[in-house]
Amino acid sequence: MPLDLPCSVKINLLRSWEDDMTTPTHVQRGTLPRGVYQNLDGLKDDLLGRNGFLGRQTHLYRHGDPCEYRPAADPQTRSALQRQLSPTDATDPSGTPIRLAHNESCQLWLSRRAAAMPFYRRNLDGDEAVFVHRGQGVFETEFGPIPFEPGDVVVIPKSVTHRLVPDGADNVFLITETTEELVVPDYGLIGHYTPVDPSMIFIPEPEVLPSTEPEYEVRLKHGGDHASIGYDHNPCDVAGWRGDYFPWKYNIRDFKTLNADAAHILPSARTLLATPSMDVLLAVFGPHRAPMVPGVEKTPPSHRNADYDEVLFSHDGQAFGNPMPTGVLMHVPQGLHHGVPEAEKQRIREEYPAELLLDSVAVAIDCRARFVLDEAFVRAFEELTSGDLASGDNPVATLLNGESR
Ligand SMILES: [Fe+2]
Repeated sequence: MPLDLPCSVKINLLRSWEDDMTTPTHVQRGTLPRGVYQNLDGLKDDLLGRNGFLGRQTHLYRHGDPCEYRPAADPQTRSALQRQLSPTDATDPSGTPIRLAHNESCQLWLSRRAAAMPFYRRNLDGDEAVFVHRGQGVFETEFGPIPFEPGDVVVIPKSVTHRLVPDGADNVFLITETTEELVVPDYGLIGHYTPVDPSMIFIPEPEVLPSTEPEYEVRLKHGGDHASIGYDHNPCDVAGWRGDYFPWKYNIRDFKTLNADAAHILPSARTLLATPSMDVLLAVFGPHRAPMVPGVEKTPPSHRNADYDEVLFSHDGQAFGNPMPTGVLMHVPQGLHHGVPEAEKQRIREEYPAELLLDSVAVAIDCRARFVLDEAFVRAFEELTSGDLASGDNPVATLLNGESR
């Protein structure tokens, strides 16, 4: 028997049943604040969602803080400081970055390269997004030079020949390597210039570099191993190029963070790079204003991602009026709560009744596949929580109270 429902409800029901065949459209049950993100009246807002922030999701309004729990040995949220990690490229020009975490679609590496690569390289395993935490210099590429500075995300697509030449010795890079290619996602109705402004994308001009050496080594990274080929001329010898496949960069200060005065824009709207399958996302958390409408929470709800692991890397700025420790890596496995502690939320409600600028700067790598943390990351976490660096029971609180670079 056909349902006699208003047209919009019919559409919602049809979409819902066609999409997942499990549940009907938006449902509300129990004691609820009026509207989302506001009028909590002592309840704790807990967001649970599928498919990152793009799928079905529900806000649960709890009496207790969902982020306060006794952790398991595994999975658990683990943090480390970048300065605890020792890639071989920090002391040896022929060295490599150190791997922090991996799965079938993504690998995370940390480089502290202190001197120019005495070789060119090509990554045959996938694309690389190199986030510059510290340092300046240039990526020599066969498409032309790409100068870099802190805050840059330099995209080196699979198989592009390049060489990293830093100006000085004090450099830190977080490298996201993906099996699929990295592209800027479609922002659809948001428009053409937000949050990624195409006029701010840097694309290199070709530059033929001189050939003065008897041989130029090109290291091929493939299958986690390295092979070496040689040319009798500098491989950066391109006089011109045309096409739609090339290296480029974008500085995160030019990321136009979307904002709302009556709601929280979800982290998916902060995506700078994504794989076509959306299995890996690289998001930018830049300065923005907290919601200003009375009754609306200043801080986003606590949440857990049902389907994505998350790695957050703090880069610069302040967090709710306190200096933010930078160079902190935090891995949150899928299914585990995270967010601003309730006591801190209350302080912010009381101290910032009107305007609050959130000027922390961080990048996040979200991945549908579970990350396996490499030994160096786990060892750094254990040192942080049990060794001289520890100053509290909660590793995140330890980091928030500590200092790093
Ligand atoms: Fe998150």
